[in-house]
Amino acid sequence: MRNELIAANWKMNLHRSEAVGLARACRTMAATGRNGREVLIAPPYPYLAAVREALEGSPVLLAGQDVSQYAEGAYTSQVSAEMLVDVGCRYTLAGHSERREHSGDSDDVVAAKMRRAFDCGLNVILCVGEKEAERDRGEERSVVRRQIDAALGAVSREEAAGRLVVAYEPVWAIGTGRTATSADAQEMHAFLRGVLAGRYDTGLAEEIRILYGGSVKPANAAELLGANDIDGVLVGGASLDAESFNAIFAA
Ligand code: 13P
Repeated sequence: MRNELIAANWKMNLHRSEAVGLARACRTMAATGRNGREVLIAPPYPYLAAVREALEGSPVLLAGQDVSQYAEGAYTSQVSAEMLVDVGCRYTLAGHSERREHSGDSDDVVAAKMRRAFDCGLNVILCVGEKEAERDRGEERSVVRRQIDAALGAVSREEAAGRLVVAYEPVWAIGTGRTATSADAQEMHAFLRGVLAGRYDTGLAEEIRILYGGSVKPANAAELLGANDIDGVLVGGASLDAESFNAIFAA
């Protein structure tokens, strides 16, 4: 049985006091323990410590929005996996489409980031998803397969077990208000699970959580979460408001 994961990616939003307030609201929400659902927050880096403090003693998980592919050194602005662990993160995102799009994260860079994260004991939410033009050309499956194969090329079965989460985030649905229908998302999630089964085995593929992300809102969360192979959601905009994130958690 896969525990659903309700994850918040705050991106580059909020001020410190808002971040702390929202973290406290998430803490209260998680304490209600809806259906064993787990809650995770990925705040901007400068607020990780304050958010961690606000979450002290609660089961809410803390994540980096990204991680450096390097261990340490002259990499101005980057944050290493060790630093994320040090500040209390159990998870990091890797391969978010906004990193791929605006910061040039190639498949190889994403793979190197996964390597660093696993080596340092972090769990990883690997983000994959096709762009609109790729879907229009019918390439959505080959794109996500390529992204998965590249990112997991050096990730062992032991590392993937219990430590890997995949997030399917079609780029055309992120921040656009356009969500994949639950049927379309389910189809892609089932495909992704098949890719994972081919890479590892069916037993492990059945254990790996696959989240959906892209304009998840209170109004569409229940339907998405009701699909067989959708094991949680990765929420951007709607996670910035306690009420709407709570409604998604309770959906
Ligand atoms: P939105 O929920 O704002 O579409 O963002 C989704 C996302 O990119 C989460 O990582």
